[in-house]
Amino acid sequence: MPALVLLGAQWGDEGKGKATDLLGGSVDYVVRYQGGNNAGHTVVVGDQKYALHLLPSGILSPGCVPVIGNGVVVDPAVLLSELSGLEERGVDTSKLLISGNAHLITPYHTTMDKVTERFLGKRKIGTTGRGIGPTYADKINRVGIRVQDLFDESILTQKVEAALDQKNQILAKLYNRRAIAVEQVVEELLGYADALRGYVCDTTLLLNDALDRDKVVLFEGGQGTLLDVDHGTYPFVTSSNPTAGGACTGAGVGPTRIDRVIGILKAYTTRVGAGPFPTELFDEDGEKLRTIGGERGVTTGRDRRCGWFDAVIARYATRVNGLTDFFLTKLDVLTGWESIPVCVAYEIDGRRVDELPYNQTDFHHAKPVYEMLPGWSEDISGAKEFSDLPKNAQAYVKALEEMSGAPISAIGVGPGRDETIQINSFL
Ligand code: GDP
Ligand code: IMO
Ligand code: MG
Repeated sequence: MPALVLLGAQWGDEGKGKATDLLGGSVDYVVRYQGGNNAGHTVVVGDQKYALHLLPSGILSPGCVPVIGNGVVVDPAVLLSELSGLEERGVDTSKLLISGNAHLITPYHTTMDKVTERFLGKRKIGTTGRGIGPTYADKINRVGIRVQDLFDESILTQKVEAALDQKNQILAKLYNRRAIAVEQVVEELLGYADALRGYVCDTTLLLNDALDRDKVVLFEGGQGTLLDVDHGTYPFVTSSNPTAGGACTGAGVGPTRIDRVIGILKAYTTRVGAGPFPTELFDEDGEKLRTIGGERGVTTGRDRRCGWFDAVIARYATRVNGLTDFFLTKLDVLTGWESIPVCVAYEIDGRRVDELPYNQTDFHHAKPVYEMLPGWSEDISGAKEFSDLPKNAQAYVKALEEMSGAPISAIGVGPGRDETIQINSFL
């Protein structure tokens, strides 16, 4: 079972960091394939808590090689500070590898992200402000700066000139901002070159070679299925492809090499930023989920919007990702409710709809059709086996599995590595 993709099945923050870290000890490579430091992946090891933004969660597993693939957008300042933060805590970061083809987030991308959001006013996306969208836009527009450009001053200068030519006009004339000097950007970027040089290589060649040698490679997604620029709730999405296909393009491996696709699925739903969210709660239950679940953004510190589990979304995630397994997280957070509503379908303008509507307006009008499942009151955080769970918690998991279209192979009952019930092995 050499190649696995692990991705978010909802709107992000499902617990991908914990799940990746759990597998980290048994895999040879952990590869981030898209997104950037918009991600916030929490890993709890013993009494230590780590918040990773750009680095693959495998960096905390000593035998594992962490890889930043070509599909990722890299803010070099953030990368270096994340690396030094981990080194200060005794984590060995020397094995890290970075694709020379990954695109760089520069200060003008972060500026553009912020001014565009301000300009959108009430139509804003609620981005993380980390320059993600503008960097991917430049990549597609073919005016991006890549990691490899850091090592050729002349090319770097030409590329920054090309990128800023148009952007400075926009900044000055449209947004009334000061133009950004080419020399200043080039100088800043060149300042990162020496520190990064040793990490950069042809990660595509390396990963395909590793797969040829039967090494185990885990592709770790950022964000989630419903934030995918093609398959998510556009335009309220991120600018990359967190869905399974993104692992192929974002790491340079063919789809025939992927053996398993694991969707990380929270036992309820959360979302950060703007956009439709049919099961969102605005009452005490929403507040309770937020408080008990600690639902506050790891990257921006924003409160996460909270709601009940949505099986329509889970089914959609199974479909667009070809999921082979689910890892259900945060079941422990649901302890203490007498009964738990689960959204099984939507009602849209008087019609019952069982699949995610492709039409944006329909999705904005979707109202959840709930089925009530009986709750449980026993503390489940110490459960090691499925049979340790109270009968109603077992029934909740089984019901979700049936509605979602793929087996639930693991269940999270707490944030720690060992607070997991493994039902089927992932490897
Ligand atoms: P990611 O972005 O998908 O990696 O998820 P985040 O780290 O942003 O958010 C998930 C939060 O839930 C983190 O604080 C985790 O430590 C925590 N977590 C993960 N799995 C579980 C679980 O099974 N139970 C509980 N109570 N917390 C969990
Ligand atoms: P992890 O990997 C939750 C959301 C933002 C915003 C939208 C676009 O921790 O699950 P962007 O800065 O990417 O252009 O913002 O996407 N978003 C996330 N929400 N978890 C994340 O990452 C997210 N990364 C981006 O809130 O709505
Ligand atoms: Mg997160």
